[in-house]
Amino acid sequence: MFKKLEIVKDSNKILREKSKEVNFPLSSSDKDTINKIIKHLTYSQIPDLSEKYDIRPGMGLAFVQLGMLKRIVVVVHEYEEGKFKEYVLINPKVISQSKEMIAAGLGEGCLSVDKEIEGHVLRHARITIEGFDVNGEKKKIRAREELAIAFQHELDHLDGIMFYDRIDPKKRFYEEGEIRFL
Ligand code: NI
Repeated sequence: MFKKLEIVKDSNKILREKSKEVNFPLSSSDKDTINKIIKHLTYSQIPDLSEKYDIRPGMGLAFVQLGMLKRIVVVVHEYEEGKFKEYVLINPKVISQSKEMIAAGLGEGCLSVDKEIEGHVLRHARITIEGFDVNGEKKKIRAREELAIAFQHELDHLDGIMFYDRIDPKKRFYEEGEIRFL
């Protein structure tokens, strides 16, 4: 039976802490948690199921959002309508990023933040990240556009950074032409 995850909310100070590197082999409980996150995020993006289980749509989650300070992120990307690809990265590190910046036109959301926060969050348009998969094998991911935004958002969680920290209070919104919007 499917049981939705209990996600830590923004008022909890743990979200401001730095997560710690994970040692391999991964515990079976961490593997189990990863699978639960994948299921939760996938269901959340399928309208019938997100309604049925009352889960807010989300693309990514970091372990800290379940109260565990471990450097593990999961992203589930709908690359084509109804088709999902899952990414699990452990101890991820950014190895390169584009100069070009983009932003989600409607701003970003977070499963730990219940209210909408308006403003554009600048992100690199393309990013390469290295890390490990669940088996401890080295893994390199090149992400662009929406997927690049999702990874930057999740990697920030590992360092206690929330998306709204990156909204410039003096310039909450950008104009067309200043940066590229998705
Ligand atoms: Ni988030």
